[in-house]
Amino acid sequence: MSGLLHGIHLSDTHLGPSTDFEVRGSRPSERLDRILRAIDRLDFTPDFVIHTGDLVNDPDPAAYQVAAEALAPLASRVPLYVASGNHDDSAMMAASAVAMGPRTSMVKDADRLAYRFELPGMLGFVLDANVPNPAEPHGDLPENQLEALAAQLEAGHEPFAVFVHYQPFPIHSAWIDEFLPLRNGEALHALLGKFAPDRCRGVFFGHLHRSVQLYRDGILYSGIASPVCEFTAGVHDEKVEWSSDCPAVFHHLSFSPQGTVIKAFYAP
Ligand SMILES: [Fe+2]
Repeated sequence: MSGLLHGIHLSDTHLGPSTDFEVRGSRPSERLDRILRAIDRLDFTPDFVIHTGDLVNDPDPAAYQVAAEALAPLASRVPLYVASGNHDDSAMMAASAVAMGPRTSMVKDADRLAYRFELPGMLGFVLDANVPNPAEPHGDLPENQLEALAAQLEAGHEPFAVFVHYQPFPIHSAWIDEFLPLRNGEALHALLGKFAPDRCRGVFFGHLHRSVQLYRDGILYSGIASPVCEFTAGVHDEKVEWSSDCPAVFHHLSFSPQGTVIKAFYAP
């Protein structure tokens, strides 16, 4: 890559089947609208927007229609990409009117949203780590996605970023670490380690409903909060509490040959 690329990262919008749907003390459509208005006011046009999952609160075609209508103005001017979260249904989302930018599937599974998208001088890989039982809140990357990612990285030479709903490792918070991580985050880390730090510009996730950064072996992992509610993450938590008294946040990601910069924006 020779220039500067700008991305917008948001996550865990938990939209419902109508715009007046409420969950955990907040109205997701109102929180997303605040973010979208703030993106419109930025002094630059992003090269892409990535939503790292839990686009909706329950997989329901009506909820994806609410999402599609809310995101349509943004998606009409900026390529929009969405990862599938544990509250999503990948196949339902792929079949919905949510308008995603140009992308290439990484696997043949029709019910998986694992794909590559191309930016000038850089690649984005969106992985789908949902497990068969949607009541299980952890992730697990299928072997064929890890193999496909390895093949793509070995065949190319571009810088890249990875987007997945789930955090790869424990974050030193008891309940979260027991129930929410990728079960095979170490396998992803080992794979990316072969290409870091020269090419891996970061791994970006949501799921934890709070901002969290992890750094291991030259690889940056960055999680973004949810605009809907924030989870607690105490070291000794036996369960997670949440608060809807949280900012509507998105991250501005900028990628350059020198590295990655992440700026948090709080939508008023
Ligand atoms: Fe979520």
